[in-house]
Amino acid sequence: MEFEKSITLRRLEPFGVVLEPNTERADVMTLNIETLRELFWKEHLLVLRGFNTFQSSQELSNYCDMWGEISLWPFGAVLELMEQDNPQDHIFDHSFVPLHWDGMYREQVPEYQIFHCVKAPLPGQGGRTTFSNTLLALEFAPPSIRELWSRVTGHYRRRMEFYNSKTVSPIIAEHPHRGHAVLRYNEPHAGWQGRFINPPELNFFGLPPEELADFHLGLKEALYSPRNFYAHEWQSGDVVIADNFTLLHGREAFVSKSPRHLQRVQVHSDPPFQNSGLEFYK
Ligand SMILES: [Fe+2]
Repeated sequence: MEFEKSITLRRLEPFGVVLEPNTERADVMTLNIETLRELFWKEHLLVLRGFNTFQSSQELSNYCDMWGEISLWPFGAVLELMEQDNPQDHIFDHSFVPLHWDGMYREQVPEYQIFHCVKAPLPGQGGRTTFSNTLLALEFAPPSIRELWSRVTGHYRRRMEFYNSKTVSPIIAEHPHRGHAVLRYNEPHAGWQGRFINPPELNFFGLPPEELADFHLGLKEALYSPRNFYAHEWQSGDVVIADNFTLLHGREAFVSKSPRHLQRVQVHSDPPFQNSGLEFYK
């Protein structure tokens, strides 16, 4: 992997890498996209830290365009993730967000999530973005547990400002372009003590109802195990590129009114991946 000598590459535990410029702040645009893409496919999570980044959402969108076809929403390319005064959805609250994958409720599922941290919360205010590497979770799972997971299918229904959808997915699914197994799961928020606005409807089939609680517990244990799980503590200016096909992601709660402002863009694989589990989309 050839990067300019001015870049330091550091491993994250238990997966992912951080790239930082060695000297004065370099422009993030100077990093070769195809070199980054190869690294992304290997590591599943890239953190670009300490670079000059984007002064506007348009600049971010222009950068993401270089990665591939941007997934467009009614609001455009860039989702501004900030706590809102009267949130209609947990995404815009300061609550915990359970692990899930992006695009599960849309017609195409993006491969890349590109986050830009405009403003980080202060130390101690929480709000880390959580990532679970499902390849590692599958690798470390005993065969009996994998067998259990392979019997379950999730049925997910969610209505929010931008869509009203139902999707169905086996817990163990196939990576859209690589053929190996990955986990697809929207973690139930049950157990979260605080306010959770506009929860999705989740139903799981394939096991006797009395075995479902243990199934969720075992899966949660695997997904949050330190061997498979990384929580990213934001610094202003961070750019994080995450593999939405392989990882699941969520958010830790944060102190209300923290100065937490992230921007997120989704970029499709080439070709884009059609969501075969979608039962309806409005
Ligand atoms: Fe998400």
